[in-house]
Amino acid sequence: MVGEWYFSTLGALVCFSLLFQLLRFIYRHWFRGSFSWEPYRGEWAVVTGASYGIGAAYAVQLAKNGLNVVLIARSVDKLQQVAQQVEKNGAKSQIISFDFASASVDDWKRLENQLSSLTTSVLVNNVGVNVSLPTSFLEMDEEKIHQIVQVNIVATQKITRLIVPKMVQRKKGVVLFLSSGGGVLSPAPYLSVYSGTKAYENALALALAGELESSGVVVQSITPFFITSEMSKIRKSSLAVPSAERFARDSLKSVGYEVSCNPYWFHEFLALVISYLPLKLQIRYVAKLHRGLREKGLRKMSSAEKKSKI
Ligand SMILES: NC(=O)c1ccc[n+]([C@@H]2O[C@H](COP(=O)([O-])OP(=O)(O)OC[C@H]3O[C@@H](n4cnc5c(N)ncnc54)[C@H](OP(=O)(O)O)[C@@H]3O)[C@@H](O)[C@H]2O)c1
Repeated sequence: MVGEWYFSTLGALVCFSLLFQLLRFIYRHWFRGSFSWEPYRGEWAVVTGASYGIGAAYAVQLAKNGLNVVLIARSVDKLQQVAQQVEKNGAKSQIISFDFASASVDDWKRLENQLSSLTTSVLVNNVGVNVSLPTSFLEMDEEKIHQIVQVNIVATQKITRLIVPKMVQRKKGVVLFLSSGGGVLSPAPYLSVYSGTKAYENALALALAGELESSGVVVQSITPFFITSEMSKIRKSSLAVPSAERFARDSLKSVGYEVSCNPYWFHEFLALVISYLPLKLQIRYVAKLHRGLREKGLRKMSSAEKKSKI
């Protein structure tokens, strides 16, 4: 009798918890109000890695919300194209050509001077690099490891320390970190160093959010899965893979709520499903998926090579 009561109470609690999660999920993605960018109109946002991909999409969406945008990356011609799109939306833009992988102390000083005259209220820590194909950790070359750590960790923390103190002084700001589901929400065999740096970015964002909680500066870590871009090598959007534009739009709406979040609904759903799977199974599944992506990538490269020789 006691056993029956125990199991029905347990069952009711599990159902209640699942229903609560489902309602919260629906509310978050379809009914909750958007972050208000009104107080930020006319102020500057700095977007790193803004010459294409997700960074460019953030830049344009920020301009649509009334912010001026500083675009930072290496390719000046591509930065100019994004700047034109920003200006089409009635915002001002500035482009800065900067290599986060190899910048010297003097380069950083120059960047600081270039940014010093602007009232920067938003920082999108978007720049990120990865291996071009999933690669076993033991086969990665040292130079690539250094580049990933330099851009994803060292440069991200440097620019954060350069821009955020002024936000704290002004008691106003938004800092977004483009982390990744791979490394934070699921293991990522064959993307070991990349996913490690993304886990670092997430940890840094959460720590900073705690340290700046009462400062008026909002800090958020974003942990998406695949999005269309050069990095993902996925060109066509689908249910599971949003376009960079859709993703950036959803992300700017969800600022100021969860400290670590997945703004695109399907990514959050995926994260929830993954969280119920045993870790060993997750590791095995992602390892197989990434081995497949590597083989497909190698096949594509070798057929392109053959074609170029014809
Ligand atoms: N795409 C996805 O599926 C996905 C999923 C989860 C998280 N993310 C994260 O989202 C962020 C953006 O990803 P993405 O897919 O848009 O990447 P992407 O298509 O490869 O674009 C990367 C951007 O960073 C710039 N960049 C690369 N190396 C640089 C360097 N050394 N110095 C300065 N700028 C540099 C590139 O411009 P230049 O070449 O002109 O410098 C470009 O603007 C990354 O942090 C990534 O980890 C992406």
